[in-house]
Amino acid sequence: MLDAMSDKLAIEVEKVSFNYAKLKALSDLSLRIPRGISFGVLGPNGAGKTTLIRLLVGLLKQKEGRIQLLGQHPTRQMAHLIGYMPQQHSLYNELSVAQNVDFFAKIYRLKNRTERAKRVEEVLRLVNLWERRNDGIMKLSGGMKQRVSLACAIVHNPPLLFLDEPTVGLDPELRANFWQHFANLNSRGVTIIVSSHTMDDAAHCNRLAFLRSGRVIAEGTPLQLCQATGKPDATLEEAFLYFVRREGKNDA
Ligand SMILES: Nc1ncnc2c1ncn2[C@@H]1O[C@H](COP(=O)(O)OP(=O)(O)O)[C@@H](O)[C@H]1O
Ligand SMILES: [Mg+2]
Repeated sequence: MLDAMSDKLAIEVEKVSFNYAKLKALSDLSLRIPRGISFGVLGPNGAGKTTLIRLLVGLLKQKEGRIQLLGQHPTRQMAHLIGYMPQQHSLYNELSVAQNVDFFAKIYRLKNRTERAKRVEEVLRLVNLWERRNDGIMKLSGGMKQRVSLACAIVHNPPLLFLDEPTVGLDPELRANFWQHFANLNSRGVTIIVSSHTMDDAAHCNRLAFLRSGRVIAEGTPLQLCQATGKPDATLEEAFLYFVRREGKNDA
Protein backbone atom coordinates (compact mmCIF):
# COMPACT_ATOMS: atom_id res chain seq x y z
CA MET A 1 0.00 0.00 0.00
CA LEU A 2 2.75 2.35 1.02
CA ASP A 3 4.71 1.47 -2.12
CA ALA A 4 1.71 2.09 -4.37
CA MET A 5 1.43 5.51 -2.74
CA SER A 6 5.17 6.17 -3.17
CA ASP A 7 4.79 5.65 -6.92
CA LYS A 8 2.45 8.60 -7.07
CA LEU A 9 4.77 10.83 -5.11
CA ALA A 10 7.00 13.30 -6.88
CA ILE A 11 9.05 13.91 -3.77
CA GLU A 12 9.50 12.20 -0.46
CA VAL A 13 11.52 13.78 2.29
CA GLU A 14 11.96 11.79 5.45
CA LYS A 15 13.51 13.16 8.61
CA VAL A 16 15.97 15.40 6.81
CA SER A 17 18.15 17.69 8.87
CA PHE A 18 20.80 20.10 7.66
CA ASN A 19 23.39 22.19 9.48
CA TYR A 20 25.64 25.00 8.29
CA ALA A 21 28.49 24.48 10.74
CA LYS A 22 26.77 24.95 14.10
CA LEU A 23 23.61 26.50 12.70
CA LYS A 24 20.71 24.09 12.40
CA ALA A 25 18.92 25.18 9.21
CA LEU A 26 16.53 22.19 8.88
CA SER A 27 15.46 19.84 11.65
CA ASP A 28 13.87 16.48 11.14
CA LEU A 29 11.87 17.61 8.14
CA SER A 30 9.43 15.25 6.42
CA LEU A 31 7.25 15.92 3.37
CA ARG A 32 5.33 13.82 0.86
CA ILE A 33 4.53 15.70 -2.32
CA PRO A 34 2.13 14.16 -4.87
CA ARG A 35 2.84 14.45 -8.60
CA GLY A 36 1.37 17.13 -10.84
CA ILE A 37 0.65 19.78 -8.24
CA SER A 38 2.05 23.11 -7.13
CA PHE A 39 3.38 22.63 -3.65
CA GLY A 40 4.17 25.80 -1.71
CA VAL A 41 6.89 26.05 0.90
CA LEU A 42 5.87 29.07 2.90
CA GLY A 43 7.81 30.77 5.61
CA PRO A 44 9.62 33.93 6.69
CA ASN A 45 13.24 34.78 5.85
CA GLY A 46 15.59 32.31 7.39
CA ALA A 47 12.94 29.57 7.72
CA GLY A 48 15.05 27.20 5.59
CA LYS A 49 13.22 27.37 2.23
CA THR A 50 16.35 27.85 0.11
CA THR A 51 18.24 25.21 2.08
CA LEU A 52 15.44 22.71 1.47
CA ILE A 53 15.31 23.46 -2.25
CA ARG A 54 19.09 23.30 -2.63
CA LEU A 55 19.08 19.91 -0.90
CA LEU A 56 16.34 18.64 -3.19
CA VAL A 57 18.09 19.75 -6.39
CA GLY A 58 21.36 18.27 -5.16
CA LEU A 59 23.32 21.51 -4.67
CA LEU A 60 23.73 20.74 -0.98
CA LYS A 61 24.74 17.33 0.18
CA GLN A 62 22.16 15.62 2.30
CA LYS A 63 23.63 13.74 5.21
CA GLU A 64 20.75 13.02 7.56
CA GLY A 65 17.45 11.48 6.51
CA ARG A 66 16.19 10.29 3.15
CA ILE A 67 15.19 12.03 -0.08
CA GLN A 68 13.40 10.34 -2.99
CA LEU A 69 12.65 12.09 -6.28
CA LEU A 70 10.12 10.41 -8.59
CA GLY A 71 10.42 7.27 -6.51
CA GLN A 72 14.21 7.07 -6.82
CA HIS A 73 17.25 7.94 -4.82
CA PRO A 74 18.50 11.16 -6.52
CA THR A 75 21.62 10.80 -8.66
CA ARG A 76 23.50 13.01 -11.11
CA GLN A 77 21.86 11.11 -13.96
CA MET A 78 18.55 12.61 -12.88
CA ALA A 79 19.67 16.20 -13.47
CA HIS A 80 17.69 16.48 -16.71
CA LEU A 81 14.49 15.67 -14.78
CA ILE A 82 14.94 18.75 -12.63
CA GLY A 83 14.36 22.42 -13.38
CA TYR A 84 15.67 24.95 -10.87
CA MET A 85 15.09 28.66 -10.63
CA PRO A 86 17.38 30.02 -7.92
CA GLN A 87 16.40 32.87 -5.62
CA GLN A 88 19.12 35.05 -7.14
CA HIS A 89 19.08 34.69 -10.88
CA SER A 90 22.18 33.21 -12.45
CA LEU A 91 21.94 34.60 -15.97
CA TYR A 92 24.95 35.58 -18.08
CA ASN A 93 25.03 39.32 -18.65
CA GLU A 94 27.27 38.96 -21.69
CA LEU A 95 24.74 36.73 -23.45
CA SER A 96 21.42 37.75 -24.99
CA VAL A 97 18.06 36.54 -23.68
CA ALA A 98 17.84 33.75 -26.27
CA GLN A 99 21.51 32.79 -25.82
CA ASN A 100 20.95 32.38 -22.08
CA VAL A 101 18.02 30.03 -22.59
CA ASP A 102 19.93 28.16 -25.30
CA PHE A 103 22.89 27.79 -22.95
CA PHE A 104 20.69 26.07 -20.35
CA ALA A 105 19.10 23.91 -23.05
CA LYS A 106 22.59 22.69 -24.00
CA ILE A 107 23.51 21.93 -20.40
CA TYR A 108 20.37 19.86 -20.17
CA ARG A 109 21.40 17.71 -23.12
CA LEU A 110 19.06 19.13 -25.78
CA LYS A 111 21.59 18.27 -28.48
CA ASN A 112 19.60 18.65 -31.67
CA ARG A 113 20.06 22.24 -32.87
CA THR A 114 16.73 22.61 -34.66
CA GLU A 115 14.82 21.11 -31.80
CA ARG A 116 16.67 23.35 -29.36
CA ALA A 117 15.89 26.50 -31.36
CA LYS A 118 12.23 25.48 -31.45
CA ARG A 119 12.13 24.90 -27.74
CA VAL A 120 13.91 28.21 -26.95
CA GLU A 121 11.29 30.03 -29.02
CA GLU A 122 8.48 28.13 -27.29
CA VAL A 123 9.58 29.00 -23.76
CA LEU A 124 10.40 32.61 -24.63
CA ARG A 125 6.93 33.01 -26.10
CA LEU A 126 5.49 31.41 -23.00
CA VAL A 127 7.09 34.05 -20.78
CA ASN A 128 6.32 36.83 -23.26
CA LEU A 129 9.91 37.63 -24.08
CA TRP A 130 10.26 36.42 -27.65
CA GLU A 131 10.33 40.03 -28.90
CA ARG A 132 13.24 40.75 -26.53
CA ARG A 133 15.24 37.66 -27.48
CA ASN A 134 18.20 39.58 -28.86
CA ASP A 135 18.51 42.01 -25.96
CA GLY A 136 21.32 41.77 -23.45
CA ILE A 137 20.32 40.81 -19.92
CA MET A 138 21.49 44.20 -18.60
CA LYS A 139 18.74 45.92 -20.59
CA LEU A 140 15.96 44.00 -18.85
CA SER A 141 13.84 44.97 -15.86
CA GLY A 142 13.87 42.79 -12.73
CA GLY A 143 10.60 41.10 -13.69
CA MET A 144 11.92 40.33 -17.17
CA LYS A 145 15.07 38.76 -15.74
CA GLN A 146 12.85 36.58 -13.56
CA ARG A 147 10.94 35.49 -16.64
CA VAL A 148 14.17 34.62 -18.47
CA SER A 149 15.24 32.68 -15.41
CA LEU A 150 11.95 30.76 -15.47
CA ALA A 151 12.41 30.06 -19.20
CA CYS A 152 15.89 28.66 -18.46
CA ALA A 153 14.46 26.40 -15.74
CA ILE A 154 11.76 24.88 -17.95
CA VAL A 155 13.48 24.75 -21.34
CA HIS A 156 14.21 21.01 -21.09
CA ASN A 157 10.64 20.13 -20.06
CA PRO A 158 11.53 18.75 -16.64
CA PRO A 159 8.84 16.86 -14.71
CA LEU A 160 10.10 18.42 -11.46
CA LEU A 161 10.41 22.14 -11.11
CA PHE A 162 11.92 23.94 -8.11
CA LEU A 163 11.27 27.65 -7.97
CA ASP A 164 12.84 29.64 -5.15
CA GLU A 165 10.75 32.75 -4.51
CA PRO A 166 9.97 33.22 -8.22
CA THR A 167 7.37 35.94 -7.68
CA VAL A 168 9.41 38.33 -5.51
CA GLY A 169 9.35 41.81 -6.99
CA LEU A 170 6.77 40.98 -9.64
CA ASP A 171 3.81 43.31 -10.12
CA PRO A 172 0.34 41.80 -9.58
CA GLU A 173 -0.29 41.22 -13.29
CA LEU A 174 2.99 39.39 -13.85
CA ARG A 175 2.48 37.44 -10.67
CA ALA A 176 -0.92 36.26 -11.91
CA ASN A 177 0.74 35.45 -15.22
CA PHE A 178 3.36 33.28 -13.50
CA TRP A 179 0.67 31.38 -11.61
CA GLN A 180 -1.16 30.79 -14.86
CA HIS A 181 2.05 29.27 -16.31
CA PHE A 182 2.44 27.08 -13.26
CA ALA A 183 -1.14 25.81 -13.52
CA ASN A 184 -0.55 25.02 -17.22
CA LEU A 185 2.59 23.08 -16.33
CA ASN A 186 0.70 21.19 -13.60
CA SER A 187 -1.96 20.19 -16.10
CA ARG A 188 0.83 18.62 -18.18
CA GLY A 189 1.89 16.57 -15.16
CA VAL A 190 4.76 18.78 -13.96
CA THR A 191 5.24 18.94 -10.19
CA ILE A 192 6.24 22.39 -8.96
CA ILE A 193 7.81 23.16 -5.63
CA VAL A 194 7.64 26.86 -5.07
CA SER A 195 8.89 28.81 -2.09
CA SER A 196 7.49 32.12 -1.00
CA HIS A 197 7.04 34.31 2.04
CA THR A 198 3.78 35.88 0.87
CA MET A 199 0.39 34.38 1.59
CA ASP A 200 -0.80 35.78 -1.73
CA ASP A 201 1.30 33.09 -3.44
CA ALA A 202 0.21 30.48 -0.92
CA ALA A 203 -3.40 30.74 -2.00
CA HIS A 204 -2.41 29.59 -5.53
CA CYS A 205 -0.81 26.35 -4.35
CA ASN A 206 -2.61 23.00 -4.23
CA ARG A 207 -0.83 22.09 -1.03
CA LEU A 208 1.37 23.97 1.39
CA ALA A 209 3.94 23.39 4.04
CA PHE A 210 4.40 26.17 6.57
CA LEU A 211 8.07 26.29 7.46
CA ARG A 212 9.52 28.05 10.49
CA SER A 213 13.01 27.81 11.97
CA GLY A 214 13.76 24.78 9.83
CA ARG A 215 10.65 22.84 10.85
CA VAL A 216 7.38 22.07 9.11
CA ILE A 217 4.78 23.47 11.49
CA ALA A 218 1.78 22.56 9.31
CA GLU A 219 1.01 20.89 5.99
CA GLY A 220 -2.17 20.61 3.93
CA THR A 221 -4.34 22.33 1.35
CA PRO A 222 -4.85 26.07 1.84
CA LEU A 223 -8.44 25.35 2.86
CA GLN A 224 -7.45 22.69 5.40
CA LEU A 225 -4.89 25.02 6.94
CA CYS A 226 -7.39 27.87 7.24
CA GLN A 227 -10.07 25.57 8.66
CA ALA A 228 -7.68 24.18 11.26
CA THR A 229 -7.78 27.54 13.03
CA GLY A 230 -11.42 26.92 13.93
CA LYS A 231 -12.35 30.32 12.53
CA PRO A 232 -14.58 29.89 9.45
CA ASP A 233 -13.22 32.95 7.62
CA ALA A 234 -9.54 32.69 8.60
CA THR A 235 -7.00 33.91 6.06
CA LEU A 236 -3.78 31.99 5.32
CA GLU A 237 -1.88 34.68 7.18
CA GLU A 238 -4.00 34.01 10.27
CA ALA A 239 -3.55 30.28 9.75
CA PHE A 240 0.24 30.72 9.70
CA LEU A 241 0.15 32.69 12.96
CA TYR A 242 -2.17 30.11 14.49
CA PHE A 243 0.35 27.33 13.78
CA VAL A 244 3.26 29.47 14.99
CA ARG A 245 1.48 29.99 18.33
CA ARG A 246 0.54 26.34 18.56
CA GLU A 247 4.15 25.34 17.93
CA GLY A 248 5.21 27.79 20.65
CA LYS A 249 2.84 26.12 23.11
CA ASN A 250 4.15 22.66 22.19
CA ASP A 251 7.72 23.84 22.80
CA ALA A 252 6.84 25.24 26.25
N1 LIG B 1 25.63 29.41 3.22
C1 LIG B 1 25.19 29.55 4.48
N2 LIG B 1 26.06 29.53 5.53
C2 LIG B 1 25.62 29.65 6.79
N3 LIG B 1 24.34 29.80 7.14
C3 LIG B 1 23.43 29.84 6.14
C4 LIG B 1 23.81 29.72 4.77
N4 LIG B 1 22.69 29.79 4.01
C5 LIG B 1 21.67 29.95 4.87
N5 LIG B 1 22.10 29.99 6.14
C6 LIG B 1 21.25 30.11 7.36
O1 LIG B 1 20.37 29.00 7.37
C7 LIG B 1 19.07 29.41 7.78
C8 LIG B 1 18.08 29.10 6.66
O2 LIG B 1 18.37 29.92 5.54
P1 LIG B 1 17.62 29.81 4.15
O3 LIG B 1 17.50 28.37 3.80
O4 LIG B 1 18.33 30.71 3.19
O5 LIG B 1 16.18 30.38 4.53
P2 LIG B 1 15.07 31.07 3.60
O6 LIG B 1 15.34 30.69 2.20
O7 LIG B 1 13.78 30.52 4.13
O8 LIG B 1 15.18 32.55 3.84
C9 LIG B 1 19.18 30.88 8.11
O9 LIG B 1 19.39 31.00 9.50
C10 LIG B 1 20.39 31.34 7.34
O10 LIG B 1 21.00 32.44 7.95
MG1 LIG C 1 15.60 31.80 0.51
